[in-house]
Amino acid sequence: MMIERTLVLIKPDGVQRAVAGRIISRFEDVGLKLVAMKMVWVDEDFSKKHYAEHIEKPFYKGLESMITMGPVIAMTIEGVEAIALVRKMVGATEPKSSAPGTIRGDFAHVSYGYADEKGIGVKNLIHASADKKDAEIEVPLWFNDKEIHSYKTVHDAHILE
Ligand code: CMP
Repeated sequence: MMIERTLVLIKPDGVQRAVAGRIISRFEDVGLKLVAMKMVWVDEDFSKKHYAEHIEKPFYKGLESMITMGPVIAMTIEGVEAIALVRKMVGATEPKSSAPGTIRGDFAHVSYGYADEKGIGVKNLIHASADKKDAEIEVPLWFNDKEIHSYKTVHDAHILE
């Protein structure tokens, strides 16, 4: 199936900067469907589950402080080849390198060099599943089946015909 689900987090820096609505609008504007959404304040244990692949990396401590510093807005987004599309819209992980027009390129600017020198996480506003394998792990980590909804949007008439 080419209709995919992907996990998107507006991280604490995005929530605290009050740009969540503008970020969510970008996904709605291209016709992607929000099928789950909640606000969660994660603890260190949950951070280690979500960022399991980064625990041994030198920047993990800063990353954990950043993701636990306030609530995140967690979403599952659905659409045609949504995993790669959402990653394209989000832009490169390092805001300094992310292209204008992407979410990180338009709303953030800091570099890895700056964050690493200060020992803080890169404040890049948003997380999106990297690929199909990650999406299949991350969506059920954040949402149970009852929290994910199936419904029609006006876009479905054009997508499904
Ligand atoms: P995210 O998409 O949430 O997934 C992993 C996070 O690790 C990434 O965003 C950044 O916030 C952070 N990250 C990745 N590489 C580095 C780095 N070299 N220095 C600091 N933080 C990093």
